[in-house]
Amino acid sequence: MSSPSEIPAGLADVPVAKSAISIIDGKRALLSYRGIAVEQLAKDSSFEETTWLLLKGDLPTQRQLADFHHELRQRRKVHYKLIEVIKNFPATGHPMDALQCSVSALGMFYPTRSVSDNAANWEASLRLIASLPTLVAAFARLRRGELPLDPHPDLDHAGNFYYMLFGREPSPSVRKVIDACLILHAEHGFNASTFTARVTGSSLANPYATISAAVGSLSGPLHGGANEEVLEMLSEIGTAANAKPWLDAKRAANPSFKVMGMGHRVYKVKDPRATVLQELAERVFAETSRPAKYDVALELEKQCIPIYGAKGVYPNVDFYSGVVYSSLGIETDIFTPIFAVARVAGWLAHWLEQLNGNRIYRPEQVYVGNTDVPYVSLDKRP
Ligand code: COA
Repeated sequence: MSSPSEIPAGLADVPVAKSAISIIDGKRALLSYRGIAVEQLAKDSSFEETTWLLLKGDLPTQRQLADFHHELRQRRKVHYKLIEVIKNFPATGHPMDALQCSVSALGMFYPTRSVSDNAANWEASLRLIASLPTLVAAFARLRRGELPLDPHPDLDHAGNFYYMLFGREPSPSVRKVIDACLILHAEHGFNASTFTARVTGSSLANPYATISAAVGSLSGPLHGGANEEVLEMLSEIGTAANAKPWLDAKRAANPSFKVMGMGHRVYKVKDPRATVLQELAERVFAETSRPAKYDVALELEKQCIPIYGAKGVYPNVDFYSGVVYSSLGIETDIFTPIFAVARVAGWLAHWLEQLNGNRIYRPEQVYVGNTDVPYVSLDKRP
């Protein structure tokens, strides 16, 4: 048995399963889904096509893609009673908590009989992918005092999501940047939420329980919550000129201070997704206006490189995604739910992969607690 000092914190570098879904080369800034570079998918594919690729292993034929679009559109609308459930959530609740509850509830409205039935698993996968934007948008609108909207049958996944949030169709470049953000966030190997999905799925829990567990895992600030914190940080900094004094003051106060949106367990160079996102963002900013926070982020990145570059700490995808979303008028606490709308594709791909030759996860612990402790009855205790 290992000694406690031999256990890598956070399971870093410990292989736990074989997977054929995505690969990350953290030193060369490469990420591919089923072998295809994510940069190319973000530029040339669509979220629907990328989702099929992740779930099925290959790009769809034209007919398969057309059918997949149709199947998803058929399942976008959720049961009216589920909207009633969401209406009763507190408006002050976090949208990730609302999403986690809504996904669990979805499983009660559309139950899956058995995870050993491939057709039922595919049905649940379609339902989850199609419904997540509806659930996120319903809560976002209700807490603004607006009625949820029915999905728009003529719009694709990204366009419909924007429509359900704002009640208007996006411009082509806005639709493209949302679609690309969904593609860039769709899958990323054995991160915490994906591992959560695999562990939960390994008990043969139903897919809704599996995805709601993953949503909970994604909600933490060290994972999906980082882009919210990036935006708060950029607001605190205020101006590009203040980036250096702000960073100096933070480091002086706390030498192990972490800049949100920087650093990654795997990437030790700039996250390739951050680079693609920046290119697409600049196209949107040419159409809308260039947000002041983008210039603050650029300057902060410049100031961080000489300090943290040697440790392999560079911007990750969340460093710029929040600036893009906020420039589209999306509320800060909706950023992580958007991540979930995208990542559900990867979670489901991993869930299906896990079920194929499943064995329940049950890792070993190294016990460091007391032994042979006598029980003292309550009347003899102070
Ligand atoms: N800002 C400043 N220094 C950072 C840093 C950051 N964002 N991220 C890591 N470092 C430093 C650590 O302090 C450590 O320094 P040390 O060797 O002098 O102690 C070194 O880089 C290695 O970091 P470590 O904490 O071991 O990395 P990790 O793989 O455990 O953690 C993250 C990865 C993502 C959790 C971490 O980088 C982080 O907290 N980033 C900010 C939150 C974030 O953006 N999360 C979204 C991830 S997609």
